[in-house]
Amino acid sequence: MPDKIALSTRSLTASFSGKTAVRDISLDFDDHTVTAIIGPSGCGKSTFLRCLNRMHELTPGGTVTGSVMLDGEDIYSASSEPVELRKKVGMVFQKPTPFPTMSIYKNVAAGLLVADKKPDPSRETEIVEKALRGAGLWDEVGDRLKSSAMSLSGGQQQRLCIARAIAPEPKVLLLDEPTSALDPISTQRIEELVHVLKKDFTVIAVTHNMQQASRISDTTAFFYMGDLIEAGPTDLLFTNPSNSRTEDYITGRFG
Ligand SMILES: Nc1ncnc2c1ncn2[C@@H]1O[C@H](COP(=O)(O)OP(=O)(O)OP(=O)(O)O)[C@@H](O)[C@H]1O
Ligand SMILES: [Mg+2]
Repeated sequence: MPDKIALSTRSLTASFSGKTAVRDISLDFDDHTVTAIIGPSGCGKSTFLRCLNRMHELTPGGTVTGSVMLDGEDIYSASSEPVELRKKVGMVFQKPTPFPTMSIYKNVAAGLLVADKKPDPSRETEIVEKALRGAGLWDEVGDRLKSSAMSLSGGQQQRLCIARAIAPEPKVLLLDEPTSALDPISTQRIEELVHVLKKDFTVIAVTHNMQQASRISDTTAFFYMGDLIEAGPTDLLFTNPSNSRTEDYITGRFG
């Protein structure tokens, strides 16, 4: 039986000042799976991801057509609330982006402020601990929550950003090259974490690293110059791609 679909796009097209960056993408993301988005630089991976939480339209000149269905509603319909949406779709970026002047605790609690009214203090403490545990960081920082976020290593900072993103308990977690600024050990920690995160969330991760895509994802989507060339089960896409461009890319002939 197919998994339930967590999020789907239909004819999603995104442009910058009239120049199309992502063209006519229709893709389903199953509940509790990890989808890797791969493709050469500039093919529209980040733009596509930023359409899924309505960040693209915040870029000057950024426009979107088509639809993104989440919980039975088009996030681009007039009645959809971007603030409500960001409660359901969290995002983590390439470089760790903790709030530098805030403590570890406040960084995670800030994830709740974006998403909701401030919870009462005891509930907030619980949520922060749960998010830090969920991000695999609690054992390293549980005894120094008041320290500055900048006292953490790069890999810890990235897991802190994951904690901040999952604190509001989103349905979907978007990761845009989450390990490309990290060392191999920190990268491995995050890859292992992704396997755990999919128990609670649907993960969509952009990566340049094909080994990483094959290690972490159930489904892979290959983008090329703004088009979705193919998407399918990761093992199949990497062993038997149906499109020659996909094959050229995964065998390193370009990219
Ligand atoms: N702020 C912007 N203004 C105008 N054009 C942009 C902007 N950001 C991206 N683009 C263009 O949109 C296209 C897609 O860019 P995008 O950043 O989505 O690619 P990407 O696949 O994420 O690339 P990379 O692997 O390098 O991160 C590119 O042609 C890029 O030049
Ligand atoms: Mg990008």
